[in-house]
Order: sequence, then structure tokens, then C-alpha cells
Amino acid sequence: MCGIVGYIGKEEAAPILLEGLKKLEYRGYDSAGLAIYNNGKLDVIKSKGRLDTLYKLTDGGKKMEGTAGIGHTRWATHGEPSDKNSHPHVSQSGKIAVVHNGIIENYQKMKELLVNHGVKFSSDTDTEVVAQLLEYYYEGDLLEAVSKTLSRLEGSYALGIMSVDYPDRIIAARKENPLILAVGDNCNYLASDVAAVVKYTRDVIYLDDDEIAVITNDRINIYNTDMDELNKPVVHIDWNISDPEKGSYEHFMFKEIMEQPKVISDTISPRLKGNEVILNELDNVRSKIDKASQIYILGCGSAYHVGVIGKYLFEKYARIPSQAVLASEFRYSSPLVDENTLVIVISQSGETADTIAAMREAKRLGSTVIAIVNVVGSTIAKEADSVIYTWAGIEVAVATTKAYSAQLAVIHLLCLELAKNRKKMTEHEISEVVSELKLLPSKIQRIIDCREKLQYYASLYFNNDSVFFIGRNLDYAICLEGSLKLKEISYIHSEAYAAGELKHGTISLIEPGTLVVALATYEKLFDKLVSNITEVRARGADVLGFASEKMRESFEGNADSAFYIPNTHEMLTPSLAVIPLQLFSYYVALMRDCDIDKPRNLAKSVTVE
Ligand code: AGP
Repeated sequence: MCGIVGYIGKEEAAPILLEGLKKLEYRGYDSAGLAIYNNGKLDVIKSKGRLDTLYKLTDGGKKMEGTAGIGHTRWATHGEPSDKNSHPHVSQSGKIAVVHNGIIENYQKMKELLVNHGVKFSSDTDTEVVAQLLEYYYEGDLLEAVSKTLSRLEGSYALGIMSVDYPDRIIAARKENPLILAVGDNCNYLASDVAAVVKYTRDVIYLDDDEIAVITNDRINIYNTDMDELNKPVVHIDWNISDPEKGSYEHFMFKEIMEQPKVISDTISPRLKGNEVILNELDNVRSKIDKASQIYILGCGSAYHVGVIGKYLFEKYARIPSQAVLASEFRYSSPLVDENTLVIVISQSGETADTIAAMREAKRLGSTVIAIVNVVGSTIAKEADSVIYTWAGIEVAVATTKAYSAQLAVIHLLCLELAKNRKKMTEHEISEVVSELKLLPSKIQRIIDCREKLQYYASLYFNNDSVFFIGRNLDYAICLEGSLKLKEISYIHSEAYAAGELKHGTISLIEPGTLVVALATYEKLFDKLVSNITEVRARGADVLGFASEKMRESFEGNADSAFYIPNTHEMLTPSLAVIPLQLFSYYVALMRDCDIDKPRNLAKSVTVE
């Protein structure tokens, strides 16, 4: 997902923009650039590659004078990563500069129209169409040109716009891509998310879809598409969103794995009173939830994997028909969703395009939508009927860990709430789970304290080129996440497989040296999983097994390598079983010298289809 930063005030803009872009690096990008207003012209420096390249080209910003500017990190969609395709893009005259996050879906048509009017394009991007269209419509009033341009665009956008004729302002516009404005001291900011500006100010204005902002150093005016001025509230960010720094850690991902005990505690503690679950966030939708006849859980990637666990738990403990569906599939299927359906949407960023679209489709079909989201004020958080925030703090590493675990903790709370309200669990049974829930942080810490063992196992297997993760029921759901973690940060091909399904074809791929990661923490199916381990070992596989401490005696000798997780309530084992898989993947990627926090081709939040 691209990153946008803008600054207008009294200070030199370039260093501030570079610092802001650095805080947005985690979103994933392949090029970066700045445009600064300087004595009647727009200075633009941009290049393919990491921010370090831009730092060098601009000498840390010193080469670019001026107190108003926009900056961008690009994650390529239309047009390969290159200097010319980097943002900011400028109009033919060089008088208007634009940075953009999103996709202009009708850009070819607009490009043809402009080329037919003699406009010369200099890039292969959809974004350049915006800059050229602005100039096409510009007759002296920039805001009017912006309004006309937006009326011609189809698709999604978060835009930062500057013009040499209006050196005292930056114009911003948003449609289905996040954009915030931030109020500084004799200055104002524009950013894709709070991380870029939290160092300077916690007072922000969330721009909503189809809104346009005019930002000067002492004012922020916001308009709708009819150019009516809007009165938007300034929100003070008082929640824990400390400036994301690696500190002494080598990677953000490792830091965020280490933060999980605290994140789980921060997420569940405010929602427990004694051994009772208190989810006040659901007060406005409780009657709808209580009468729901089915549950759909929607998400992408790791968020979807949390949904798969939710499916198993809701059906087992609350006895509600439940299914987890990939958001990208849901939106194009013909789901049997109606006013009696509870839809739970899970998203760390709250800006994933597929998940937003799926949520809107579910709402259109009449369902009640609860969102489990980490970014306050994000699109999903705002559009859901109710939102339960995961207090994980800013998650910088592209590969999610702490947000995943926080989402899972919320699923546990939700499961207990549903089971209680439907009288499918007794107070005593719920109390037993809650007692164990409170111990999760310390038990996760115990696993983290044994990480050297996982580092050793990683040293045995980091050169494998194919890995299978097998498990049954909840263990299978965790295998999905373990496999994705390994793939996305170490680039090793791996596959999560329901252990009982292996013999129906895929076992043909097992040969001497194949690594099989076997999860046997789900006690009820332990013996069957051990049989599956025997099957693959008989064909030469190396097996790295994971089981609960209480199964140690029965498990010893069944796997080539074994790791034991602390005992806990069956409902909660996924929250423990995922931790060693995160650490194993991290160490494998470390030994393969991969770019762990910013894996190739990936973005932290996929705001395009
Ligand atoms: C997880 O490690 C991945 N980075 C990715 O699968 C992610 O979970 C997915 O893109 C969903 O993102 P969201 O939670 O922000 O919606």
C-alpha cells in the first residue's frame, strides 16, 4: 500500500516528509519521492528503490528548500517500479504535482482523451492522469480544477496535490483509501495514517470518502463534492500509539512477537470483570446478535485464518452455524446472508480493499456487521455496525503477529459471550476458560523464553525448499497461519493441509527430506495426528512436531524434533500454538537473510483489489 505525507508550515519540509515516509515504510513500497514548493517552482526528486536512495539524492532533505511539500512511497500497481513511474507525478507544465494511493480504474480512457488534446505523458502510471487532468481543467482556480478532475475519475484514491500558483496550500482528496489531516503548531500535516505524524501531533481529522481538504499552515478547510464546507471534528488520539521504533530489536517482527503477552493483556483485561466477559461495544447490536441464525467471518490472509479458528469455536461452544470465508471470494459469490446473519469482519489495518467490499456487500444483504480492527478510525471500523478494537498498537512488520494474536483473543471473548447468551456454556465452564485466558500472557512468555529451541530447529530446516504443515481441527487452522508466516518472510514454498486429507493425493509429494510440521495440540484428535505423522515418516519425511506439555510422554519419539506448548483450555490452544510457528518462521527467514519486516512484493495493507 502506498504512503502519503504532506507538510505545510514554517520549518523546512523535506526532512519532515522523509521522516514521515520512514514511518510508513512498513506499508510496503518499491520507490519514493518528494515535491517541494521553492520560489515559484515545484522541485521534484524521486527514484526507484528504498528511502535510503531518496535520502542520499536529497542529502537528507537539505538539497530541497521550501516549507510546503508532499512525499510518497509507491507500491507499484500500474507501471513497473522505476524512477519515471515514481510519485510525485507532475503535469506537463510542471506546475501541478500529485501523489496518489489507490487505482484510477478509467485511466486509459482519460489518458486517450488527454493525448488527443496534445498532452505528452512521461510515465506508465494511472496517477499521472490525475496530474494532467488537473492541468487540463485548471483555469486559475485550483480547487475548481480538483473538483472537476475528481468528477471524471473512477476507482479509488487518496490524493495530495500542490500547485506553483498556490504555494500556501496543499489540497487533499479521498475515496476508499485512508487519508488523515493532522493539526500542528503553526503547521499542518497530511498522511496516510497516524504513524507518520504521531511524533509531532496527536490531533487529527479523518477525511472521509468524497471529501476534499484545503490545508494551509494555519487552517484546514474541508468540503464535500458539491463544495459545501464541512465541519469535521478534530480527534485527539489518546490511545497507545507510541512512535513505532525498533529500539534494540533487529526487526519490528521480532519486537512485535515479543510484545504479544502485553498486547493480549491490553486487549482482554478491559473486557473482563472478574471472570465475566464484558463487551460493551456490542450493546447497540446485542439483540441482533442474540437472534442471529448463522455467522459469517470475513477476512484476508492472517485475518481469515483467525476466522477459521472462530468458525470451529463458535460451532463447538456457542453451537451457531458458522463459516469463515475469504473476503475476496465472498464479494463475488452468492452468499446466503440476510438480516438474521451475524457477519464478523476481521482486519488489522481496517483498509483492506477486499474486506471493505465484502463488508459492504454483507451490509447490503441486510446482515449485522461486527468488526475486529486494530487501526482506530479506519474505514472498516467506521462503517461496521459495531467495532471491537484490538489494542495491539501500531504493527509495523508486514507479517502480522501481535495483531493476529489480539484478534484471536477477541474471538475467544466473543465466543464466550455468544455461548453465555445462548446458554450453551454454564457460568462455571465460562469461568474456567476466563481463568485460563488471564494466564495466556504468561504462558506465551514461557514459549518466548524457550525461543532458542526454535532457533535451533530453524537451523536444521532453513534450507528446505518445500514444507507441509499438517493438523486437524483447530490445529489445521493454526497450520494455515504457520504456513503463511513461513512463506511470506522466508520465501519457502509451504502448504497447510488438513492431516486427514493428506492421503487423498498430496502424500505423493512426501519424499526423503521433506519437512512436515505437525501440530498435535488438539487433544481429542492426538492419536489420529500421530498416525498421520507415522504415515509421512514412513515415506522419509522429517517431522517437526508441536504438542501440549501434557502429551509429552505420549508424543516423545513420534517426531524427529518436538516442541511443547504449555497446557491450557482446549479453546485457547491456538493462541499458544501459533507463537512457536511465528518464531520458527522468523528464525528461518533470518538464516536465509530475508528482508523480514518488508518482504518482497508485499504491502502491510492491500488497499487495492
Ligand atoms: C499477514 O501476515 C499478511 N501480511 C496478510 O495476509 C494480511 O493478514 C492480510 O493482507 C489482511 O490484512 P488486514 O488484516 O489489514 O486486513
